[in-house]
Amino acid sequence: MQQSPESIARIIVFTNRKGGDGKSTSSVSVASGLALRGKKTLLLDTDTQGNSAMFLGIDRDFSAYDALEGRRKPSEFIRGSGRNNLDIIPGSRRTALIESTHRQDGVSLAAALDIIRRCADGYDYLVIDTPPDGYPQELALYCADILVVPVALDYPSMDGLKNTLRAIAEISDRHQRKPESIYILPTFFTRDNESSNNMAELQRAYGDDMVQWPVPALVEARECVACAATIWEYKPNGKVALAYGRLIERIIGG
Ligand SMILES: Nc1ncnc2c1ncn2[C@@H]1O[C@H](COP(=O)(O)OP(=O)(O)OP(=O)(O)O)[C@@H](O)[C@H]1O
Ligand SMILES: [Mg+2]
Repeated sequence: MQQSPESIARIIVFTNRKGGDGKSTSSVSVASGLALRGKKTLLLDTDTQGNSAMFLGIDRDFSAYDALEGRRKPSEFIRGSGRNNLDIIPGSRRTALIESTHRQDGVSLAAALDIIRRCADGYDYLVIDTPPDGYPQELALYCADILVVPVALDYPSMDGLKNTLRAIAEISDRHQRKPESIYILPTFFTRDNESSNNMAELQRAYGDDMVQWPVPALVEARECVACAATIWEYKPNGKVALAYGRLIERIIGG
């Protein structure tokens, strides 16, 4: 059955080509923040590390592999998160097998997007956390309506951003499908010169595509993970929550 456009979940993808710049932290914070704003949200973790589920304190039994394979019913692999409006499809090591399964079954990226849209039927937003490379990342890039690229404000990450944007452009060109919006999200902001200089460089290079409110490097972002709490549960009035709140407003506002 065809879905009407208004019933199709908007797909927000957090990605970059570098490890440790805040993809999972941002995915979980934005997905749970959307849920708190009354948006029915599904979080799909395509990384084999399965950090999104771990950050929320959820088991990784059935996983993204089962969702992307397209044979099981969503009720078999979608987990409640214990929070209103927020469900999750956890990531696990098995997700690494999806590339060969799709190749064997002749599943194109367009067909995989249909499978993903069916999983997200009835949700307002599908948030996808990605690994820093590989087929699951390429698939997520293809599917994105909104792409958010977290970039830590240090030299290696600024350099990695160019690779990420090149990969995004290549995939768009090859498959003739572009995200509506790409946001560059500065993360790990500190009060030192390196952070300020890199913010200025991002502003010069990317202007309006850059999110003006950086996510600060603060211990609360780590501590909430250790407690399996979202930033909204752990420190709702802190500066990390404030930054993710601004990002959500920008995403919802368009
Ligand atoms: N704003 C922040 N301040 C301090 N620590 C943070 C912040 N954001 C994330 N972290 C911590 O930094 C580490 C890396 O963050 P995260 O796991 O979100 O990155 P990632 O891009 O998903 O990494 P990977 O590429 O390994 O999946 C984690 O330990 C996380 O708790
Ligand atoms: Mg991660």
